[in-house]
Amino acid sequence: MFLRAASEWGQTLTEDPLSHAEEDTGNRRDFLYVATAAAGAVTAGAAIWPLVNQMNPSADVQALSSIEVDVDGLEPGSQITVKWLGKPVFIRRRTEQEIADARDVPLADLPDQGAENENRRDADAADANRTLDEAGEWLVMIGVCTHLGCVPLGDAGDFGGWFCPCHGSHYDTSGRIRKGPAPKNLPVPIAEFISDTVIKLG
Ligand code: FES
Repeated sequence: MFLRAASEWGQTLTEDPLSHAEEDTGNRRDFLYVATAAAGAVTAGAAIWPLVNQMNPSADVQALSSIEVDVDGLEPGSQITVKWLGKPVFIRRRTEQEIADARDVPLADLPDQGAENENRRDADAADANRTLDEAGEWLVMIGVCTHLGCVPLGDAGDFGGWFCPCHGSHYDTSGRIRKGPAPKNLPVPIAEFISDTVIKLG
């Protein structure tokens, strides 16, 4: 066995020792090249990642830009206020009467006939264009008075909707300004039902 191995060695050496040496050198060179290139790629990746990562919104901003609200159990005629992007958002489940009151108002009676609806910027302020569902049961609005930014009170005012006590602005059951110094309707943010009971804001 030893003899056989020695003779194989001998055979190999006698075959072309130089070409094997060059091959080895070539292989080492290739390895070094590959290793250097790989290290370069890793270094470049490490240098670029913080820049790329910096361009993404931070986790807390991402978490806040969109929230989900479970409205299970919210009875008709009641509302909840949630905080979203630092602002109060009213989510109201309206009664049949509130819906009828809002839908009976002619557009011409409204001081602000613009949509103020992030979901439908091209639509007017008709009640049907402001609600989350076709039946008009669900109304979602930014709860900040469009005069100077107070938070209006629910179930109050001359129109049965919201009343801002700061300077006396009255909003109707669709959150549209009807009387007082506020120039605009309460804005409707981007919102949608993502299940039977969960509303996603943003
Ligand atoms: S802030 Fe609401 S009426 Fe002035």
